[in-house]
Amino acid sequence: MPDLRKLLDKMTIEEKIGQLMQFSSDVFADDGADVTGPRAQYQLTEEDMARVGSILGTNSAETVIKLQKEHLEKDRNKIPLLFMRDVIYGYRTNFPIPLGFGCSFDPALVAECSEMAAKEAAASGIHVTFTPMVDYVRDARWGRVMESCGEEPLLNSRMGAAQVKAFQGEDLRDREHIASCVKHFAAYGGAEAGRDYNTVDLSEHTLREFYLPAYKACVDAGVKMLMPSFNSLNGIPSTGNQWLMKKILREEWGYDGLVISDWGAISELLKHGIAADERQAARMAFDCGCHIEMCSNAYHLHLEELIEEGAISEEQLDDAVMKVLELKEELGLFEDPFRGASSEKEQALFMSEAHRAIAKKAAAESAVLLKNEGVLPFSEEIKRIALIGPFADEKKALGIWKCNGQYDEVTTVREGFAAALPQVEILCAKGCGAEWNDSDDSGFAEAIEIAKKADAVVLCLGEPDDYAGEGNCRTDISLPGLQNRLAKEIAAVNSNTAAVLFNGRPLVLSRLAEAVPAILELWYPGNEGGHAAADLLLGRANPCGKVSMSFPKATGQCPIYYNRNNTGRPKKVEKEGIRTRYNSGYLDCGNLPLYPFGHGLSYSNFIYEDLTLSADSMESDGAIQAKITIYNDSDRAGKEVVQLYMRDLVASMVRPVQQLIDFKKVEFAPYERKEITFEIREPMLRFWNWDQKFISEPGEFQISTGCADHLLHTQTFELK
Ligand code: BGC
Repeated sequence: MPDLRKLLDKMTIEEKIGQLMQFSSDVFADDGADVTGPRAQYQLTEEDMARVGSILGTNSAETVIKLQKEHLEKDRNKIPLLFMRDVIYGYRTNFPIPLGFGCSFDPALVAECSEMAAKEAAASGIHVTFTPMVDYVRDARWGRVMESCGEEPLLNSRMGAAQVKAFQGEDLRDREHIASCVKHFAAYGGAEAGRDYNTVDLSEHTLREFYLPAYKACVDAGVKMLMPSFNSLNGIPSTGNQWLMKKILREEWGYDGLVISDWGAISELLKHGIAADERQAARMAFDCGCHIEMCSNAYHLHLEELIEEGAISEEQLDDAVMKVLELKEELGLFEDPFRGASSEKEQALFMSEAHRAIAKKAAAESAVLLKNEGVLPFSEEIKRIALIGPFADEKKALGIWKCNGQYDEVTTVREGFAAALPQVEILCAKGCGAEWNDSDDSGFAEAIEIAKKADAVVLCLGEPDDYAGEGNCRTDISLPGLQNRLAKEIAAVNSNTAAVLFNGRPLVLSRLAEAVPAILELWYPGNEGGHAAADLLLGRANPCGKVSMSFPKATGQCPIYYNRNNTGRPKKVEKEGIRTRYNSGYLDCGNLPLYPFGHGLSYSNFIYEDLTLSADSMESDGAIQAKITIYNDSDRAGKEVVQLYMRDLVASMVRPVQQLIDFKKVEFAPYERKEITFEIREPMLRFWNWDQKFISEPGEFQISTGCADHLLHTQTFELK
């Protein structure tokens, strides 16, 4: 184990600054001959390159080993490089996107997937993943909702913490785990009008209660790195936001780990207009404790002069460098700079049977049965099935953060059914495209023809996999192109029709829901999506996912979320077409979403029989139990996500109409009855008040179960 202090002492200022620089792998593939190439763009000499501390975006053990070897030959201090990558929902074996993960309400499953991703990434020489993304989201126009677990702070917090722990494991040296970087701190998901990188203007109250808890949960879970967000928050971009980066992150939460900027975010302080030049931007970001600069060169070009002038002290520089060295040390890189990366390991792990099995399970558990008027599950006795729509045989459905995922390794719905029902005739037609401006209906005739002939139809619809994710925002989040019309015409000729959806955000499904009797939301389900779809549609798997982000009835309802405040004139009747003047409703649309947070059907029939509280009052240091009895009135085993909501009936500030305070995913045997117990304690009832404190107030609280907007039972108790 090297003496890091000694190492630091013998480093020159330039070498220290090098540790704080990160460039993408294409910079290292560039020999410098091209005057417009990435190296020239960053003004990097051969000597600068030898001092760089970390690289972003390599995709094989072979490349990592080569770059690490070359680097160690050149670096006189022999400080190994760190390799970082966005391993978001899988490395090579992809599982569902995080919004789907959210629907599983299953942190243990998410942990299992993250462990597998960590193993694959570690085999490829990756040391740090830019995961979890725990941005709280309310507006489905924003493309990055796909990377989040949705509109619920508690769910986001549990999922985020589970990912951090699973990626990092007990000991980072074990070579099967990698460091985790939580992002994007803070409130990137609050981008105005759902437009990426846009301004975020939030009250501290909303920020504290809804947006910050999940980052905090990741900090508490021991995350090794944190990334500030691109957006400005109440006027100051996060990368240069002292209040956020110092007061909240360090002083209040006690975070002591590494901070890395987002891609180019330090130089973007100029475009935001809060720094006059890169020198000032470097100073601002460094002052906020941003240790590593990703893919811009403000530190490279200006830190040294800032230190010479005394604007930044050498101790500050040493602290930052020490943090980088410590992580390298924790990862065991000084002893083994390759950290077990090998092509053989990659071969053994990538898309291995075990990993595919996990991915299939995750795809099935993240799917949500949004609607089912008796058609699902399909009978296995069918002779002929028609698979119709742009996603019936589409491999390009992994989403833009697929990392090393390969489209040719994706199982489509057609392939899933071919494997599940080898004796059944499968008819397949695309019908139409899925682009927003697709207007070609020449494929309709063939699609209608096969629908007529089939015993069952699966409509495979969605949005192209580059419609969600960074920079992919939409003003109209309905099914693109002619897909709604296709659905209507198909369902008109065959009523035994179910739609399955591939998408990265809650879409507006009002027209689809009118047209078809069943809708199964798959999200971008990962490599094994086709197998999971077949299992779910045939009843070999029982859907158990619940909506993690509300599905609006119309794009104009965005932002829409269940944990909203009441107004002084709440809308009483939730009916379309009724003119509801002088209350807070739309003229042409209801206020509620089409499918609210927490909604999701099952092939089991879960009956919520009872909710009781163990007492009708609670001391502030005490606890009461909420017991919910649920009966599975069906011959199918199934899982139910039991949700516990509270409402603070009278408080010094307006409180949300519902807030999830706990949930449990429970398995039921056929005809099994279970009593599920939750414990309610005072901290679960707190909110951020005007005096800038998390407090609870004595008074009456309502406890409910069911799902948001469809509460089944309600009891009240008094907090003393
Ligand atoms: C994204 C981050 C990501 C980084 C590195 C940025 O554009 O905002 O989420 O981690 O790129 O790929």
